[in-house]
Amino acid sequence: MNDKKVLKDLETEGNILRHPAKTFDFFTVSRYRSAKTLKVLPPQQGERVLDVGCGTGELACLIKPLVGKQGAVAGIDPSANMIAVAKHKADKLKLTIDFRLAAIEKIPFQDASFDKVYSTLMAHHLPVSVKKQGFREIRRVLKPGGKFLIFDIGEPSNVFIKLMASPFLFFEKHAYSNSDAVDSNIKGEIPALLKQAGFATVRRLKRDSLLLFGLMEYMIAD
Ligand SMILES: C[S@@+](CC[C@H](N)C(=O)[O-])C[C@H]1O[C@@H](n2cnc3c(N)ncnc32)[C@H](O)[C@@H]1O
Repeated sequence: MNDKKVLKDLETEGNILRHPAKTFDFFTVSRYRSAKTLKVLPPQQGERVLDVGCGTGELACLIKPLVGKQGAVAGIDPSANMIAVAKHKADKLKLTIDFRLAAIEKIPFQDASFDKVYSTLMAHHLPVSVKKQGFREIRRVLKPGGKFLIFDIGEPSNVFIKLMASPFLFFEKHAYSNSDAVDSNIKGEIPALLKQAGFATVRRLKRDSLLLFGLMEYMIAD
């Protein structure tokens, strides 16, 4: 695995991460976040699960043993480096996971293919137009009664969080593009966008105060 090798990314209006994928897990406490996410919505034996914007595949690799041989796990990401690292990780762990170079705009699976879809730290990379299209795609690939867990930047719930998180928000807004991607998260627009995409209910869950002082929010849509 060599991050320096030039791999061809898929075209998307989302912000593809350019940092070396190999150091991503360390700097974003990926293992901690993934374990926490699975406590919020645990996958069950035999389920079919998709991780959208799967990055280095950390979450997908934790899900696979939980769904067992009868279940199946897939992960999509438009970043070729991320998908290469994810495939390498799954190979090393001898896990069968269907990692594909693909974007939320056009999810390469049939209607009603999955019991659960997860997306962590991805939504704030998508302009509003892509969020709208992508959430519709997630609704399409979920089975009736299926659940979508989203973990991302939420509307700061008080001035303290807003102040403490402001350097991070400034970086996220300006590092990738000047689109409305991060702003729509901060303004708390995600629940309304999920409902527009066809989800009947959106539950906003307790925040993790360890992660950016509680800026990050879990939501489950179904
Ligand atoms: C901050 S990383 C999070 C990765 C992983 N979900 C995690 O929690 O560690 C955001 C990911 O979203 C991906 N991404 C950007 N635009 C996307 C799109 N249109 N569809 C799917 N994923 C996208 C990026 O390539 C990147 O891997």
